[in-house]
Amino acid sequence: MDWYEDDDLWVGFADVMFPPRRVAEAEHLVATSPLLKVAAGDRVLDLACGPGTHVVPLARRGAVVTGVDLSEAMLARARDACERAGTTARLVRADMRDHVEPGGYDLVVNMYTSFGYFVEPGENLAVLRNAHASLVPGGRLLVDVMGKEVFAGWVGRPQAVDVEGGGTVFMRDTVLDDWTRLRSDWTYVRGDEVRRTSTYCVLYSAAELRALFREAGFAEVECFGDFDGSPYDNHARRLIVRGTRG
Ligand SMILES: C[S@@+](CC[C@H](N)C(=O)[O-])C[C@H]1O[C@@H](n2cnc3c(N)ncnc32)[C@H](O)[C@@H]1O
Repeated sequence: MDWYEDDDLWVGFADVMFPPRRVAEAEHLVATSPLLKVAAGDRVLDLACGPGTHVVPLARRGAVVTGVDLSEAMLARARDACERAGTTARLVRADMRDHVEPGGYDLVVNMYTSFGYFVEPGENLAVLRNAHASLVPGGRLLVDVMGKEVFAGWVGRPQAVDVEGGGTVFMRDTVLDDWTRLRSDWTYVRGDEVRRTSTYCVLYSAAELRALFREAGFAEVECFGDFDGSPYDNHARRLIVRGTRG
């Protein structure tokens, strides 16, 4: 089993990755970000939707949302979140390497470093090709990752973060394969309980990810450094790449 297929990882570290604070943040982003602006009736696909972090606020704004995730446990959480919020969304268990709905969407989003999980470069490209095929002409794909340039600014710093609801997570990052991939080792300590896991992803520079979008067929490709649409420069917090289907 590859690391990202392990439901125990996503469930065991859900308090760390998906704390209540992120629900409020996602609500704020969807309400204010020019990159996440949707009109009522827009068809939106959230690829690797997790526990519905962005599915709920997008659906609340009138978008017709489909959330796709490989983890049944995450989809169950997304279903609960929709129910609690009184919103509806179609939730589908699928692998983002395979999921295609030709011409089905105005917007596809892939949020919070849910891209670059696959060692085989063709498989990451397949995700972008599928997203491209799933868009209407003029439709957009938004991928939000930690850019290589941003990461280079804080690599090596030991990180210990208190988790909402209790416990502390210690994170240690290791750059692999000449700055092409990153391993993050997570240790979550809560009372007597200690959980450990490792996640891996490709570290893309803006130029590398932009080239991959082009290879996948996107006519126009833009990079941003935050959800307010600011440039990807030395102040960037994230690498957000937006591709428009021609
Ligand atoms: C870091 S979480 C992000 C979740 C959500 N986008 C958010 O912003 O909270 C990554 C998600 O990707 C999902 N995932 C991992 N591999 C996948 C795959 N091959 N196909 C679809 N989803 C996958 C995981 O189950 C997990 O829910």
